[in-house]
Amino acid sequence: CTTLADHKTAMMNFEGCELKRFATNTVFADGDPSGRIMLIGEAPGRDEDLQGLPFVGRAGKLLDRMLAEIGLNRRKVYITNVLNWRPPQNREPSPEEAAACLPFLHRHIELADPKLMILLGAVSVRHVLGLTEGITRVRGKWNLFQSVALNRAIPVMPTLHPAYLLRQPAAKRLAWRDLLAVAEKMGELGLA
Ligand code: URA
Repeated sequence: CTTLADHKTAMMNFEGCELKRFATNTVFADGDPSGRIMLIGEAPGRDEDLQGLPFVGRAGKLLDRMLAEIGLNRRKVYITNVLNWRPPQNREPSPEEAAACLPFLHRHIELADPKLMILLGAVSVRHVLGLTEGITRVRGKWNLFQSVALNRAIPVMPTLHPAYLLRQPAAKRLAWRDLLAVAEKMGELGLA
C-alpha cells in the first residue's frame, strides 16, 4: 500500500488474524497524521470495538485530557493500536495475534510518517521497540525507532497507559513528566 486509505482497506480485508472473528469492527486509527505525532496503544476495548475508533472509552477520555495539557487534541495527533481488533474479554493478545498485526503496524508508521511517537503502555513498547522490561522502567526515556523505509530514526517516548492511570491515579505525576518531555521535544522539532 502506498496511501493510508489503501492501507485501511487492506487491513479491513485481511483475514489472517484470529481476533477479527470475534470483533465488531476493525479499529484502524483516529486523528490527523499531518500533525506528525503518532500515538500507539495496545488494542481496542469494548467501546472502541463498537465505535470502530481507538481510545473512545474511559481510558480515551483520560488520554484526551492528558493531550490537552500539552496543547494537543485529536486533530493534531494520529492514534492507532498494535492490535486492530479487540481481544475477547480484553485479554492480552497472544504472540501469534500480535505477529499477524505487526507488519501492518510497521507499514502504518511508514505511511503516517511521524516525527515523534508516543507509546502507551507495555504491550506497545514491547511490540514497537522490542523492549521487554517493565513499563515503569522504560517510561520517560527517549528511544529511537529505526525506519528503513523512511530512512530515518523517529524519537519515541514510552509512557504509562491511561487505563493503568485510571487504576493507579498516583502514577499520573509520572505520565505528566513524560508529557512535559514530549512538549519539549515538540518545540525542538518545530511541532509545537
Ligand atoms: N486501550 C488501548 O490500548 N487502545 C484503545 O484503543 C483503547 C483502550
